[in-house]
Amino acid sequence: MKIFLDTANRELIKNLLPTGVIDGITTNPSHLSKEGSDTRGVLRDICAMVPGPVSIEIVEKHPDAVLKQAREIAAFAKNAVVKIPFAVEYMPVIKTLTSEGVKLNITLVFTPLQALMVAKLGVTYISPFLGRWDDIGVDSAELLEQITDLKSTYDFESEILAASIRNIIQWQKAVEAAADVATVPPALLDQVFKHPLTERGIELFDADWQKLAKKSLFE
Ligand code: E4P
Repeated sequence: MKIFLDTANRELIKNLLPTGVIDGITTNPSHLSKEGSDTRGVLRDICAMVPGPVSIEIVEKHPDAVLKQAREIAAFAKNAVVKIPFAVEYMPVIKTLTSEGVKLNITLVFTPLQALMVAKLGVTYISPFLGRWDDIGVDSAELLEQITDLKSTYDFESEILAASIRNIIQWQKAVEAAADVATVPPALLDQVFKHPLTERGIELFDADWQKLAKKSLFE
C-alpha cells in the first residue's frame, strides 16, 4: 500500500519524510487555508520537497475555468496531480485532461458507481472519503470493499486512494479492502510509530542490558 500524507504543513512533511514510508501528499483547500496566504510558495515547497505525487485541488468552479486551472496545476510541477471534485459538469473536463495525459485525483467520491464513472475516463486516482461516510452512519469499510471489488472485476487502472481517514480502524479497513493508497493525517502516522508497548519494551531491554555494565556488544 502506498502512503500519502494528508496535509499542506511543510514542517510536518519535513519531519516525516525521513521515515521513508511517505509516497506522496494530498492537499486540499482546507489544508491550505491553515498555512497562510502564500499558497504558491507552500505548494512550490511541498512539490520540491517530496519526490512522489502531490495532489493540488482546483478552486475554480465553472468548467471552463476548471479546465484552465487544471492545466496550470499540471504545469506547476512535474509531480503535481490535479484534484477535481466529482461532478457531472466536470466529466467533459476530466475526459479532456486524461486524453492530454494529465494525472487526476477525483475527490469527494461517495458511491461505487461514481468511482466507476471516473475510472472509465482513465483518471489516475479515485478518492472515496471514509471518515465522511462514517460521520453520517454509513459503513465506510463496506463501501470501500465494493469499490475495490469493482476495480478487480473490471480491471481498471485507476488507483483507489482511501481518503478522509481519521483513525487507525479506518486505515486498517482500507488495508483489508486492498486500497492502493491511503492518505493519512500526520498525527495518525505518529500513532503507528509510537506504540506504548513498543516504547516500554525498549526501556525494559535497555534496563536489562545496563545490568551487564558493558561498553559494547562485542567487546
Ligand atoms: C484528501 O484527499 C481529502 O481531502 C481529505 O482526506 C479529507 O479529509 P476530511 O474528511 O477529514 O476533511
